[in-house]
Amino acid sequence: MKTKNLLFILCFSILIFACSSSSSDDLTGQNPDPNPNPDPDPNPTAKITYKDDIKAIIDGNCLSCHGSPTNGPSNSLHTYNLVKNDVDKIIDRINRTGAGKMPPNGTLSNSAKALIQQWKDDGLLE
Ligand code: HEC
Repeated sequence: MKTKNLLFILCFSILIFACSSSSSDDLTGQNPDPNPNPDPDPNPTAKITYKDDIKAIIDGNCLSCHGSPTNGPSNSLHTYNLVKNDVDKIIDRINRTGAGKMPPNGTLSNSAKALIQQWKDDGLLE
C-alpha cells in the first residue's frame, strides 16, 4: 500500500514537472499550450506517403461516396492517382465549414487534415 502511494506521488510530480517546464517560454501565463492539438507528424523526418498515411483516411471517410463506382459525386478517390490529382480540391473541401464541406456529414480530425496538407508539402509521395 505504501509503495503504491509513493509511486503515485512520484508519477504525479513527474507529470507536474513535465507540464511546468514546457510552459517556460510562455510569457502571458494564460495559455500554457498554444497548440492543443498533438503533433500529427511526431517523426518530422519521415515523409508522409499515400500508402502509409493518406489511404486509410480517405478509405475510412470518403469512399462510402467517392468509391468505385461513386455513390453521388462525380469524382472517385479510390486510387493514389485519383487522390493525388484532386488534392487541391480535397484540401479545400475538408477545410470548409459550410456549403460543400467534406465529408458532408462530419469533419475530419485536425490531425487528419494536417496529414493531408503535409502529404502535399512532402511532394505527394505514393
Ligand atoms: C456522404 C457522401 C460523401 C462523403 C462521405 C464524402 N463526399 Fe465528397 N462529395 C460528395 C458529393 C455528393 C459531392 C458532389 C457535390 C459537391 O461538389 O459538393 C462531393 C464532392 C466532393 C469534391 C469536389 C469534386 C469536384 O470535382 O469538384 C471533393 C474534392 C470531395 N467531395 C472530397 C471528399 C473527401 C476528401 C471526402 C472524405 C474526407 C469526401 N469527399 C466524403 C459526397 C460525399
